[in-house]
Amino acid sequence: MSTSPSAVPVRAMLVLGTRPEAIKLAPVARSMAVGTHFEPVVVTTGQHREMLHQMLGLLGVSSRIALDVMRSRQQLSDLTARLVAELGEVLRLQRPDLVVVQGDTTTALAGALAAFYEKVPVAHVEAGLRTGVIDNPFPEELNRSLIGRIARWHFAPTPRAARHLTDEGVPKEQVFVTGNTVIDNLLWVLAEGTGASAFRTPAKRILVTLHRRENQGERMRGMGRALRRLAGRGDVEIVLPLHLSPAVREALLPELDGHDGISLVEPLDYLDFAATLAECDLVLTDSGGIQEEAPSLGKPALVLRTTTERPEAVEAGAARLIGTDPEVIVQAAGELLDDPALYRRMAGAGNPFGDGRAADRVLAQLAEDFAADVPLDATV
Ligand code: UD1
Ligand code: UDP
Repeated sequence: MSTSPSAVPVRAMLVLGTRPEAIKLAPVARSMAVGTHFEPVVVTTGQHREMLHQMLGLLGVSSRIALDVMRSRQQLSDLTARLVAELGEVLRLQRPDLVVVQGDTTTALAGALAAFYEKVPVAHVEAGLRTGVIDNPFPEELNRSLIGRIARWHFAPTPRAARHLTDEGVPKEQVFVTGNTVIDNLLWVLAEGTGASAFRTPAKRILVTLHRRENQGERMRGMGRALRRLAGRGDVEIVLPLHLSPAVREALLPELDGHDGISLVEPLDYLDFAATLAECDLVLTDSGGIQEEAPSLGKPALVLRTTTERPEAVEAGAARLIGTDPEVIVQAAGELLDDPALYRRMAGAGNPFGDGRAADRVLAQLAEDFAADVPLDATV
């Protein structure tokens, strides 16, 4: 980096509101806090209340400004309106040099939009993911495309994500391939080594998470029935940390509660989740972040969605996109559990999402550009 240690630090406002944003911005916040180039101002929106605050302390992130926007069963339009209004006010008071947002949540979109209105440049971490289907996942595909129109720095986790952005007309000088910060954090947390696995028996271990809005309702109930059939094999233990969304609980609890072979648990903190993932044999998930973490630990992942913005894992052979049909779920999981050669191939496919140094690359680029006084408009 070319800035001198005595230079005035760049005031970077990190806006985060949900569990995955806390996990994926933590490495950026930690690195900014130890160096001299940046003054990190962490704003938590509280889009998630319990699931966000469960993470912050143990990931070494302290929030300077904490909003409290969450409402039970919040509607996207109300949530977005509240977030833009409250973040606009924070920005007018704080006047940061830049705003950093991550991913594709409502918090990330509102953070970018409020920054645009206040004429503060935006850095987008985990930029360029696309399924190409504007309402799947809903509303994240639209959110990330809109953030892509606003951001000045686009930190893409993979070359493919970078290509999506340049294909959409983002100047290539503003797109940087960094790897995904989720890997930085996973390695950091596993090195701590203090988490406890949620598995209790020596059976074949399946870790499941489900929460996506487009899967809620009958589709999620069907997936619950598929899990019940899998548990009926008698040789598996399924651990499912239940998302706090009432819609998820309404779909899954009636299908799975009290069933042999299935442990429904409260959301795990990241140390325990990482330990549980490290101990499982197989992952079934509709999560974004877990599609990235599973291949890093050599865990085959069956993705319970019809699209993915992370095809790199599927192409590497580490994950399969199997959709949401209960019949297919039971069959695909059964194949992996019963075919050791297939299992070994998937488990050994490797991780295409980075080397654990993504946050350093983000910081180095931002420091270089602020030191060089580059133009800060989104279109140079
Ligand atoms: C959000 C993100 C999604 C991300 C997911 C991570 C959007 C549009 N969606 O979806 O991209 O994958 O977070 O988990 O931003 N709730 C609580 N306590 C909590 C968290 C949630 O009670 O700590 C309940 C509330 O009733 C809330 C509901 O869950 O209204 C839904 O939360 P919300 O953030 O709107 O959507 P998610 O489905 O969690
Ligand atoms: N996670 C966790 N505890 C849990 C479930 C998930 O810490 O009980 C972590 C997981 O390791 C991943 C992130 O939460 O990094 C994924 O969050 P989620 O699935 O809620 O959102 P998405 O990644 O789909 O946006």
